[in-house]
Amino acid sequence: MTITFITGANKGLGRETARRLIERGHTVLVGARDPEQGTEAAAALGARFVPIDVTDDASVTAAAADVAAHEGSIDVLINNAGIHGPAGDPSALTGADALGVFDVNLAGVVRTTTAFLPLLRRSPDPVIVNVSSGMGSLAITHDPSRFESSAIAPLYCASKAALTMLTTQYAKALTDIRINAADPGYTATDLNGHSGPQTVTEGTDAIVGLATEGPGAGSGRFVDRTGGIAW
Ligand SMILES: NC(=O)c1ccc[n+]([C@@H]2O[C@H](COP(=O)([O-])OP(=O)(O)OC[C@H]3O[C@@H](n4cnc5c(N)ncnc54)[C@H](OP(=O)(O)O)[C@@H]3O)[C@@H](O)[C@H]2O)c1
Repeated sequence: MTITFITGANKGLGRETARRLIERGHTVLVGARDPEQGTEAAAALGARFVPIDVTDDASVTAAAADVAAHEGSIDVLINNAGIHGPAGDPSALTGADALGVFDVNLAGVVRTTTAFLPLLRRSPDPVIVNVSSGMGSLAITHDPSRFESSAIAPLYCASKAALTMLTTQYAKALTDIRINAADPGYTATDLNGHSGPQTVTEGTDAIVGLATEGPGAGSGRFVDRTGGIAW
């Protein structure tokens, strides 16, 4: 039995990842910060709801303690929770704006990873999937053939570049765990006002792929639904 914990699984890509992994036989723990939405999603999917706000140390610690008490271990951690942040004039960005985006998209991953590492280390094949973005790729955001090269989202892009680097650094440091970054691709969700051309099923191909591949698949990779992508 593969036990998978997903942050931000009440909607969007996290919820679809939960649905697809349950279909593949995983026992899924739906992490969500809103109890009502988390309970609803878990009930609809056939999963267990675990409250978690990735910006809150106490909440993250409590989530790991909850899983330790109920399941005792996990095999897959999917750091999916993320925000776009302010969409206004980049000239008006504040330090608080930057800290807010990095608090969820980067520090949230660090908090969750640290809290869940002891549970992952009880698995025979521990896996972490960080949901990053092509918007955090220096190569893709400079490739004129890619839509990401014309999108402007300074804090979001910077936070996802940092998350991808965090992933490769963790992969070098935590050699007992397979840890990779996924770029879902531009997908219609609340994050972008449903402007993305992909469905959530298409958008979760890379995440589901990394969560279900076998031992030996490699650590420190950055993949989209077609395969490895440029940093
Ligand atoms: N959609 C795309 O085109 C796209 C492309 C590349 C990467 N991504 C990444 O994919 C991931 C999922 O995004 P999505 O598109 O599915 O967006 P979404 O529908 O807005 O879902 C985001 C999820 O993150 C949760 N979240 C936000 N802040 C949180 C916090 N402090 N603690 C716990 N959960 C929190 C949200 O919870 P609430 O419902 O409570 O707000 C929600 O469940 C994000 O990391 C995003 O950056 C998306």
